[in-house]
Amino acid sequence: MTKILLTGANGGVGRRLRRLLPAFYPNLRLSDLTPPDDLQPHEEFVAADLADLAQVEAAVAGVDGIIHLGGLSTEYDWADILQSNIIGAYNLFEAARKHNVRRVVFPSSNQAVGFYPRHRRLGTDVTVRPSSRYGLSKAFGEAVAALYADKHGLRTLCIRIGRVHDLPEDERRLALWISPRDFVQLIRIGLEHPDIHFDLVYGLSSNDRSWYDNTRAYELGYSPEDRAEDHREHAMAEQAKLVRNPLADRFMGGRLCTVEYSGDLERSGT
Ligand SMILES: NC(=O)c1ccc[n+]([C@@H]2O[C@H](COP(=O)([O-])OP(=O)(O)OC[C@H]3O[C@@H](n4cnc5c(N)ncnc54)[C@H](O)[C@@H]3O)[C@@H](O)[C@H]2O)c1
Repeated sequence: MTKILLTGANGGVGRRLRRLLPAFYPNLRLSDLTPPDDLQPHEEFVAADLADLAQVEAAVAGVDGIIHLGGLSTEYDWADILQSNIIGAYNLFEAARKHNVRRVVFPSSNQAVGFYPRHRRLGTDVTVRPSSRYGLSKAFGEAVAALYADKHGLRTLCIRIGRVHDLPEDERRLALWISPRDFVQLIRIGLEHPDIHFDLVYGLSSNDRSWYDNTRAYELGYSPEDRAEDHREHAMAEQAKLVRNPLADRFMGGRLCTVEYSGDLERSGT
């Protein structure tokens, strides 16, 4: 792998990855709507709106692999999700095809399966149950990744991220957390592992409370270095500051399941 594009480079995860990725991919191009304030002289940046195919093609041209962090990362109006996450994901894969990019890593989200109740243990072969329009857009991105792998030979890895952060921020994140360095390990599998065709894994560190069966990640050689439970005290201290929401606590997607909720609790997520 020579040249890698990181979209969404100005976001929370992007800023963390800018520090960690150059050790493995020194030839890194960054893209986002606007450049990071602290862009370094050695960093290459190409501004691109994901909703504009020509701009995305300009960002993609000449790279071998893409880590596609760009897009809206929580619930928004349909018009916004449509532009950045639906049209944006399609444009990204289409630009990759046109420019002979070999691999795309697509960070999906546990919100694609957010309406499953927390007593379930999910593999990657379950039907999607999105928590929100955001979760729906991630399910769409996973499907685009499958289409471009099967129809056009792109190698794609979708990572259903729980929560990338320095520490697990509350009780729910003890199930969902992935450290930035473990996330980089999964990204490297996506960009380098010879067996990747279209693959789907969960983006989690080694978490005792995980709701997911991440067998495929381990088959691909994933060996997480971090464990959410090691930060239990911090997470529970943060949790104590929050007001409990019984509806959010019932589903894997948490709070995003409650946004605009008008469902039937007897039936949701069953
Ligand atoms: N943070 C997490 O724990 C987490 C969990 C699950 C999934 N993810 C996914 O990982 C990715 C990165 O997450 P994040 O927390 O850094 O999100 P973020 O919101 O901090 O960053 C996303 C970046 O995408 C850019 N963006 C939005 N719309 C765009 C558009 N139309 N064109 C170009 N750029 C656009 C934004 O400017 C922003 O810098 C997202 O796709 C998110 O859905 C993150």
